[in-house]
Amino acid sequence: MNSKTLLFNLLNFIAKLTGNKNCFIFTVKNRSDMHHSNHRIGFKSKFGAIAALAGSAVGLGNIWKFPYVAGTNGGGAFLLVYIFFTIAIGLPVMLAEFSLGRRSQQNALGTFRVLAPGTKWFLFGLLSIIAATLILSFYGTVSGWTLEYVWLSISNSFHGQSAEDINSIFTNFISHPYKALLWHIGFMFLTGAIIMGGVQKGIERYSKLMMPLLFIIIIALSINSMTLSGSAEGLRFLFFPKLSELTADSILSALGQAFFSLSVGMGILLTYASYIPKNDNLTGISLKVIITDTLVAILAGIAILPAVFSFHIDPQAGPGLVFLTLPKVFQGLPAGEIWAILFFILLTFAALTSAISLLEVPVAYLVEEKKLKRPWATVIATLVITCIGSFNTLSFGPLRHVQIFGMSLFDACDYLCSNILLPLGGILICIFAGWYLDKSILYSEISNNGSLKTRFFRLYTFILKYIAPICIFLILLNVLGII
Ligand code: PHE
Repeated sequence: MNSKTLLFNLLNFIAKLTGNKNCFIFTVKNRSDMHHSNHRIGFKSKFGAIAALAGSAVGLGNIWKFPYVAGTNGGGAFLLVYIFFTIAIGLPVMLAEFSLGRRSQQNALGTFRVLAPGTKWFLFGLLSIIAATLILSFYGTVSGWTLEYVWLSISNSFHGQSAEDINSIFTNFISHPYKALLWHIGFMFLTGAIIMGGVQKGIERYSKLMMPLLFIIIIALSINSMTLSGSAEGLRFLFFPKLSELTADSILSALGQAFFSLSVGMGILLTYASYIPKNDNLTGISLKVIITDTLVAILAGIAILPAVFSFHIDPQAGPGLVFLTLPKVFQGLPAGEIWAILFFILLTFAALTSAISLLEVPVAYLVEEKKLKRPWATVIATLVITCIGSFNTLSFGPLRHVQIFGMSLFDACDYLCSNILLPLGGILICIFAGWYLDKSILYSEISNNGSLKTRFFRLYTFILKYIAPICIFLILLNVLGII
């Protein structure tokens, strides 16, 4: 078998796994013909669209980051500020991205080519594609770790281990010359396989499957956590408003967390929105996505913090809490092995539904702008992102001495994306939709050509023009240490 036939068979095999006959190489011709006749495949059902969009928003940010950030920034007071920003600023920016994507029916770059022809705005589209690529390159690293932890929980490897043993399991794993890399590659393979299935048979089908399961698991975990003795302290840590801890800094981190959690500003929602049917109500969809995202963050807090408190563990930031302390927490629970398996499966689902939304951005670009067939576009994008990402994964092991501005490769990539590109993208969306674009375009998308009531349209455009960009600019200055 020559290498071309081998690749051909491999692609068909992946297509078969994802169940999409349309993406078989030998039928691809028809799909690209359809593209040229400007027929684009979108989400089949409204529930599918919401599951996909909420899947993008709900991710590692909700499950490991939110509980800690909320707890240390004023608990209930932070929660109120977070919810306020989510609705007052996250919603308008999300709705702007939805309107742009659905109006243009294009990928992130094509949207600006169509809506702002002959201008340099397409460079912003390009920036979004680069940002999505970079985010996935480090998101894939942590997602690979979650797969290893699913495996460690299934093989009951934490049984009888001391806290130090659990620490060394984690540090040995992430610094191993290739183990973390293999899981990373495995995770990217799964992400690529789903994206290769296309919008309906890949993204929509798997989001519809994973999001309800994710919800069931997180509700079960929260109920279980609340039955623990001493859980009240954890709930108090999360919900009791400690107004004295609510500083200017924590108000800005609430806004930053809201943005990261909603996946706004990166061309992701814009790309997904280009698949939303024309008669769906964009405001209704964005409200549902926002409610789901916030609910999962709160449930994650309820699931994690009481357990952490009842075992007298100090809640600490980032991956540490999830990968170092939770295995210890689960050890102490009745039927802890099962809860551990469920928790890490939950984390994998959350990561996977966000990862596919990130991969779809460059894939849609390659298909629509570079006229590649979807299977090839997926293979190329997945390979490139995995190659870049392997440097991030190896930066905890063999490449740990490589530093950029005093940060490891992983930290530098995370910093660049989360602290600079994400807010920058948010500001540019506001400027484009609020200042550059004709208001009638936004109005016709939000009101479905005047057939829906839009009572808040003026308030909405006011926020988009003034409030949102100024607030995001403040976050940018804050994370850069300027204010
Ligand atoms: N919203 C995702 C989360 O909460 C992270 C993400 C950010 C995904 C930006 C895509 C783009 O984890």
